[in-house]
Amino acid sequence: MNKVKLRVALTRRWPESVEQVLGEHFDLRINQENRGMTQEELGAALAWADVVCPTVTDAITADLLGAAQVKTKLLANFGVGFNHIDTATASRRGIAVTNTPGVLTDATAEIALTLLLSTARRTAEGERLVRAGKWAGWHPTHMLSTQVSGKSLGIIGLGRIGLAFARQAHFGLGMEVLYSGRRPQSAHVLDGLPARYCGLEELLEQSDFVSLHCPATEQTRHLINSETLALMKPEAHLINTARGDVVHESDLVRALSSGVIAGAGLDVYEAEPKLAKGLVELANVVLLPHMGSGTTQTRVAMGECALANIRAFAAGEPLPNQVG
Ligand code: DGY
Repeated sequence: MNKVKLRVALTRRWPESVEQVLGEHFDLRINQENRGMTQEELGAALAWADVVCPTVTDAITADLLGAAQVKTKLLANFGVGFNHIDTATASRRGIAVTNTPGVLTDATAEIALTLLLSTARRTAEGERLVRAGKWAGWHPTHMLSTQVSGKSLGIIGLGRIGLAFARQAHFGLGMEVLYSGRRPQSAHVLDGLPARYCGLEELLEQSDFVSLHCPATEQTRHLINSETLALMKPEAHLINTARGDVVHESDLVRALSSGVIAGAGLDVYEAEPKLAKGLVELANVVLLPHMGSGTTQTRVAMGECALANIRAFAAGEPLPNQVG
């Protein structure tokens, strides 16, 4: 007798190799249109599938999870951040939640480094100038920018990604690393990285570059706002590859346009894909479209990590990356 296959719903297209394996083992439904699903469509997926695999663009709310027809028992998130899922309601409804940590650490740290260099050295502005045919040639005071080597880098949230970025910045560029967070990291975790633990205020006051690597929670929502931005040096730059909610984006626009800080490099936004009014008009901000983990290698690894969670669930084994 044929065993009934577990029903798995993907809210977006995944790398083909992972979709193929999923299709071989499970009764798979994929949102072939590959656009953000509506709440109604997500509700239908939760009513059909044993496992729903959301991404950062799917708000899995208390309303959705509380509906009587929900059949899903696992939310296997494609991504490390899971602030778009109401984990408390999921847990009350007996729905497990998993994520994909570790596999996207290096790729995301690379984008943080890209943003840091790009905002400091004005590379995006320079590229726009050349493409617009407006470059009139070299001269000694043309497009002067901020040197990065040897400067200080303040990391807010020294988790996996913060640590990987801090290592690149220290060992690659000789940057001095400060960090803040709930507690100091052990020598074992730091593994030879000379990083100084301090409070948030001190970090903001002392750092030439401030980079956000904390999760989006109620405690970190709008952590960077007009008051905390005012603590930063006027020549400092802010980097955000974590979550848009950590920054009060309109306050940041004001700070960037009035010289409270010198520049910013952003990969994430409060209301993606929308940006706060005035942000795109600013020359002193580098804007990327949430591409921190966006290498082929990493997206395949994220899919495989989610697949491992689904397989463990199907086998009734402990879930490797359970977060709720
Ligand atoms: C992550 O993995 O959290 C990325 O930001 C995409 O969601």
